[in-house]
Amino acid sequence: MFRQVLLAASRSNGVRRAMETAPFAQGVVRRFIAGGEVDDVLDVTLSLTGDGRLVTIDHLGEDTTEPSHAEAVVTDYLSLLDRLGSQGLGDRAEVSVKLSAVGRALDEGLAVENARRICAAAETAGTTVTLDMEDHTTVASTLRILRELRRDHPRTGAVIQSYLRRSEEYCAELAYEGSRVRLCKGAYAAPSDVAYSARADIDKSYVRCMKVLMAGPGYPMLATHDPRLIEIAGALAVLHDRAPGGFEYQMLYGIRSAEQSRLAGMGAQVRVYVPYGREWYGYAMRRMAERPANLAFVLRSFTTR
Ligand code: FDA
Repeated sequence: MFRQVLLAASRSNGVRRAMETAPFAQGVVRRFIAGGEVDDVLDVTLSLTGDGRLVTIDHLGEDTTEPSHAEAVVTDYLSLLDRLGSQGLGDRAEVSVKLSAVGRALDEGLAVENARRICAAAETAGTTVTLDMEDHTTVASTLRILRELRRDHPRTGAVIQSYLRRSEEYCAELAYEGSRVRLCKGAYAAPSDVAYSARADIDKSYVRCMKVLMAGPGYPMLATHDPRLIEIAGALAVLHDRAPGGFEYQMLYGIRSAEQSRLAGMGAQVRVYVPYGREWYGYAMRRMAERPANLAFVLRSFTTR
């Protein structure tokens, strides 16, 4: 119930505008978000890569309704990728992109063209793009755009959410040679005919999906903080004789950092999803909906400011 309320609030534009200018935003920014500017995210990237971790950078923003805003998001990604390339970080840092941020709600063709420009810049910088998966109404469109982008940019990554009842089927379709697939549980509200809601069902689905991806010839990117799922991933890697370079663990910036370092220290590939930018509200609300302790942290940062 609490989760549903926070997820509903995460979609409210009025609340979003009020919150993004609120003074306690800095507390949220410090914990889960690298900062507002490219320099902030590059500092965090250098620190994480210096510690042996990999990075995927997300320029915060979603649900773009103005073509000029979509263009500004693309421009920001292009300059970020240029900086990653010129600093030689392309082999350790990639980018994650929300298609709603580059104009999907305005026109799917515009989103494809914008995403294509980002993929081309990523290739020039020696890195890759992964398309985030947003709410369930956008899954078919995201998979369609993924197919389109992969014609010219075959390393474009996909995200599959295990809470979707069709997730195992999607994984089977995407488990082919060279296919980069990020598996997560899913962070948006969804109706029960489309998605599981019980944690146990979402976790069982995650394991089924992981088995498909780890057994196949693609490149699995296992995005979870869940200790049990991380342990099962390790066992599946042994079972399928996957070398440490043959898959990745992925976690969010600010969550289970010690575990990220531990896994990287053992020789595993660990990629950290690092968001930056000023439109932090939707992202932060989803983190709070996942875990009340995250909400407590933000409230503490408000009271101790
Ligand atoms: P869950 O939230 O169920 O937590 C399981 C366990 O992990 C907890 O019981 C606890 O043991 C541990 N844990 C979790 N948080 C912790 C904390 N703060 N401190 C200590 N322990 C903690 N979603 C989406 O819908 N579309 C997307 O494109 C993406 N992209 C994405 C990329 C990456 C790299 C990640 C890691 C995640 C996403 N997500 C996402 C978010 C994802 O769907 C999911 O909401 C969160 O990862 C939380 O789910 P967990 O798998 O961590 O499990």
